[in-house]
Amino acid sequence: MKNLHTEVIAHRGLSGLYPENTMSAFKAAAKLEIDGIEMDVQLTKDKVPVIIHDATLGRTTEGQGMVCDHTLKQIKSYSAGAWYSEKYRQERVPTLEEVFLWAQGFTFKLNLELKGSAKQREELWKNVKQLIDKYEMRERIFISSFDHVLIANIIKEDPTIETAIIVISGMYKPLSYIQSIGTKSFHYFYPLMIKEDVDPLIQAGIDVRSYTINEAEMIESAFQLGIQGIFTDYPHIALKIKDDMLKEE
Ligand code: G3P
Ligand code: MG
Repeated sequence: MKNLHTEVIAHRGLSGLYPENTMSAFKAAAKLEIDGIEMDVQLTKDKVPVIIHDATLGRTTEGQGMVCDHTLKQIKSYSAGAWYSEKYRQERVPTLEEVFLWAQGFTFKLNLELKGSAKQREELWKNVKQLIDKYEMRERIFISSFDHVLIANIIKEDPTIETAIIVISGMYKPLSYIQSIGTKSFHYFYPLMIKEDVDPLIQAGIDVRSYTINEAEMIESAFQLGIQGIFTDYPHIALKIKDDMLKEE
């Protein structure tokens, strides 16, 4: 399979081996030949974009309650790694600004998945955009979200920024839906679409990526679809599989 172009994107960093969405997970991913790192972005109470997946602190930090009800200072006081292993007790929830500063030395893309609530969507985007401009990250990032209103709004405001919608359901007539939003990329939940669903999107020029693909067999099947990219918690395994497939006659 010599024309395998599918990108390998480290989902929440190298989250299969490190605490997700932490600098350890990002730094470990950056040591691999990855194409990108995906991370989840939300606002703190004092409106700072931070990198954390859940709306609540409980699963991945030693804090409790909603992320949006805590200031950055409060969130930084909690370990974001001890839940995973004592070895990572020093980890803290990174800010997007810290990630941008660190990422300056690299060339891979950052996929900023905007989380949070509909009430916060404008403020979240305003503050994320400010950082993208400040650190000149426009060419290095693509924005995605389950909040398709937010994605449509971003495109209206700035059609040149790279965006994607994320879906978790099987889609009826996905192409016309994607086109109605105006994005060029589509991130889907792997089990809910098959080749026959995906092919017309690829043929229409949509960048199709799939999440979250961790099993070796599934990774290989996903590569065979010829999609734009896969999100995986085990990018080192995906890269090895890709390498082996490229060597095949
Ligand atoms: O962006 C792909 C994937 O990360 C979406 O789901 O819940 O892992 O953020 P989730
Ligand atoms: Mg995500």
